[in-house]
Formats: sequence, C-alpha cells, structure tokens
Amino acid sequence: MDGAFRVRVPGRVNLIGDHTDYTGGLVMPMTIDRWTMIDGIRRSGPVEVTSDADDAPLSFTLPVSDPARLDPPWGRFVAAVAAQMGAEAQPFAGRVTTTIPIGAGLSSSAALELAAALALGFDGTVADLARLGRQAELEATGVPCGIMDQLCIAAGVANHALLIDCHTLSIDPVRMPADVDVVVQFVQHRQLAGSEYAARVAQCAEAEKLIGPLRAATMQDVDRIRDRVIHHRARHVVSENARVREFAEALRRGAVVPAGHLMLRSHASLRDDFETSTAAMDAAVASVASIPGVLGARMTGGGFGGCVVALVERGTMIPGWRVNAVAGAVGANLGSTPERTAPTSE
Ligand code: GLA
Repeated sequence: MDGAFRVRVPGRVNLIGDHTDYTGGLVMPMTIDRWTMIDGIRRSGPVEVTSDADDAPLSFTLPVSDPARLDPPWGRFVAAVAAQMGAEAQPFAGRVTTTIPIGAGLSSSAALELAAALALGFDGTVADLARLGRQAELEATGVPCGIMDQLCIAAGVANHALLIDCHTLSIDPVRMPADVDVVVQFVQHRQLAGSEYAARVAQCAEAEKLIGPLRAATMQDVDRIRDRVIHHRARHVVSENARVREFAEALRRGAVVPAGHLMLRSHASLRDDFETSTAAMDAAVASVASIPGVLGARMTGGGFGGCVVALVERGTMIPGWRVNAVAGAVGANLGSTPERTAPTSE
C-alpha cells in the first residue's frame, strides 16, 4: 500500500459461545455492517492520527515505547499495534472514523486494532493479523482477552456466521438461514478493563489446573471440582462449547427454533454460572424474548453491560437494529494467505 489509502474493518456480534475463546473453546460470531475506517497517507515522520470521536490528536514516533501510557486513550490501541509490528510498522498520517458504537460489546477496539495494523502496513496471514491484534489489546488495556473478536473480524464472510475453534483457529463459515434476521439491541455501556473479565479468565485457569483443558472436559470432569464458584465457571464453559456445536448444526439444517432456544440457554448459563450478565441485560433478554417472532436472545460478548443479540423470524419488528454478516474487508487488503481457511466474500 503506497501513498493514499483507505482501510475499512467491520465490527462483530457473537451469536453464541461467550467466555469460551480464552480456553481454546468454540465460538460463533459474525461480522456486522458497522465499520471503522482509516483514511491516510503513507509518509515519513511520526504516526499522526485524528479521530471523529475525539478532538485530541494522536502522535508518536516509531519505534514506539510504552504504548499503554499514551494519550488520547484510543491511541493506545494504535500504538500497541505499532509496537507489536516492530520494524515492519510504517508511519502514516490519517483520520479514523467509525460507525461501531464504542464500549457496547461489538468489538470497536478489535476493529481499531486491525484497521491500525493495515494502516501501518501489516502484510501477513489472517491468523497472524488476529494474533497481533489480540496481543495489542493486552498491551494497551491489560485485559487478557481471547482471539474471537480479532479472528472473526479478520475472516468474516458475507451472509455467514463463523464457527471458530479457538484452539486450532480453524474457521468454518455457516450460511445464515434466509428466513431469519439478527437484531442487536444496545443496553448499557461497559468497559472490560476494570471489570471482572480478568477474574473469569483466572477462574477458568484454576479449573484447568484441576481437570485439564476445559475444551476437552466432560460434565463428569466438571463435577469433580469441589469449589462451588470454579465448578460453576467450568460448567458454563463446557456446556457452552456443546451449545455452540449444536447451534452450528441447527443453523446448517435451517432449524432456527432450536437455534433460538440454545441462545436463551446460553444467556441463562452466562447469567447463573458465569455471572457476566447484569440486571439490565437480563431484563432486555426477557423482554425481547417475549415478542412474537423472536426465536432467541442473549447477552453478547464480554458482558457486564453491552448489547443483547436476538435471532428473529425475518421481518419481526422489535426495538434495536438489524445487522448483516459482511465480508471481512480485512482479508481483501491482504496478499495470498495460506492460513486463510475461508473466502472473504461469496
Ligand atoms: C470479549 C473478549 C473476547 C471474548 C468475549 C467473551 O469480547 O475480547 O476475547 O472473550 O469477551 O466471549
């Protein structure tokens, strides 16, 4: 990419499979038609970026040190990506704009990381791009997130949800049935930094010390855990992995009613066993689920606020906005990628 460029990276919504990715489990997100863009020009000198969401500009020189202390705070994601890229990062001047709601659990930060990587001249595989974004997130915020958001955004396929195995990083696109819509309803702002997200990651690690990898564990293994809280956390992860598998199968068969039920059960498990929902999210799920034509609904993403996602019969009028699975525009910016397991468009 020389001279002037534009990169365009979508957000994502997770249909099912939350708090499974950091133990190498299964997830089923899809990209959405909300985007983060960087319009820029490659040139020597510092990296200089302005944002439509913040008056304060970002400026840093390469190589960047201590990205987590930079201001403005959104610039930490850009700088952390540059730090991960090392000598590969090329300076540019540009402007970032976004239509992804920030702090809503729709991966605005992962989209910014991937857009920044492309703007800084990243040239590698989809999987490497996702790994780089995940490391940058950790460096910028200290949140030990999994790889779901970055991998989904890098590998999105139009009209498909992605069944992702977060251990092998294999991606299996499953076409969304034609008779359903996915609707997202914003409930409350949230931030994973400072939330109990890291505590959940630690509790899963604790469970794995007792019974081995949760991705391979059975319910009998889980029942060997004596500590009540750790038992509940493990029960969520093991049951959620099973629900993701069943959900993918149901979608493949066009069995949208059972798919909706699985989403409701996923929400109950996140609420009761994993305790990442909130009273407002529970109320939103209950209220959406009671509307005729709604097949299922659940909190989506890290939790502690954010959005509710619903699977509805096509055309059902409910509060919120209809989202479509769009191609990961990211892939289109990359060269030939042997690790890419899915086409980026139909
Ligand atoms: C956040 C993290 C992801 C994942 C979800 C929960 O979105 O960034 O890695 O752990 O929470 O499924």
